[in-house]
Amino acid sequence: MLKSRNLVQPEDFSIKEIDEILDLAQQIMANPDKYSEVCKGKLLATLFYEPSTRTRLSFESAMKRLGGNVVGFSEPGSSSASKGESLADTIRIVSGYVDIIAMRHPIAGSADEAVKYTEVPFINAGDGGNQHPTQTLTDLLTIKTLTGRLDNHVIGLCGDLKYGRTVHSLVKAMNRYNDSKFVFIAPEQLRMPGYVKQYLKDHVYYETASLDNAIPSLDLLYMTRIQKERFADLEEYELLKDCYRLDADKMSKAPENMLVMHPLPRVNEIATEVDNDKRAVYFQQAKFGMYVRMALIMKLLGVDVEE
Ligand code: CP
Repeated sequence: MLKSRNLVQPEDFSIKEIDEILDLAQQIMANPDKYSEVCKGKLLATLFYEPSTRTRLSFESAMKRLGGNVVGFSEPGSSSASKGESLADTIRIVSGYVDIIAMRHPIAGSADEAVKYTEVPFINAGDGGNQHPTQTLTDLLTIKTLTGRLDNHVIGLCGDLKYGRTVHSLVKAMNRYNDSKFVFIAPEQLRMPGYVKQYLKDHVYYETASLDNAIPSLDLLYMTRIQKERFADLEEYELLKDCYRLDADKMSKAPENMLVMHPLPRVNEIATEVDNDKRAVYFQQAKFGMYVRMALIMKLLGVDVEE
């Protein structure tokens, strides 16, 4: 039962519950008009303490496409956080106004803090370099819809594996499906943190710095941006920012059916010439994000269409 639950990290939901959300998202994609009034009278708060295009706008589009409404802020400067109000007090207040909250915050662990004070379902829309569970639902819907399954994939994750919260959440989620294998492609300074690898058995992951060597063996290639905003030392960022660039030459070495995913935004890590390759699915992936957030909102609010 997902009604009234919170989502802080992907493990908060069982595989069966995630499947329910993905199934509903696929039904919504097939017939969106059927769901256009299920959230009539309901209010979502989007509390974004950090910039976002996809996550905030897809949450807001999702709620409005379900017939509901949205309040919130897209930068902390326009909220009383700028006067020193604590996160706890903000969540207490907002949860008295709305039916469901989605929050993005730059501090890892802030979602665990916020959830202690909410009286309505709370969704972590990204907390620092920690977790981004609705991006993971987006990624799972993309993989399931485009490949027909979530198990038995070889997944290459490339780029900033140290600070990239989307890859931390995705690895933990995909590891729950049978026969997932991971290739972590990163320079020494940006390798996958130990706390994520400790979820995995030794034989299911392999680490390399070479995208060229890894690409021929992959079913899915998940590219990530080098996260400038998380570096304490900007000289180190300058050294690492262009360490990977997926281009047509690299794609010529990739399997014919390999999918290229990216949570976006991208900077230089995927050349625009790759956008027209049929294996590049990152723009489609971003659209799936809206449908999966529609399904998540419906499940947490416990609403459905009347048959
Ligand atoms: N993928 C993602 O979280 O994008 P935004 O930062 O634009 O929300």
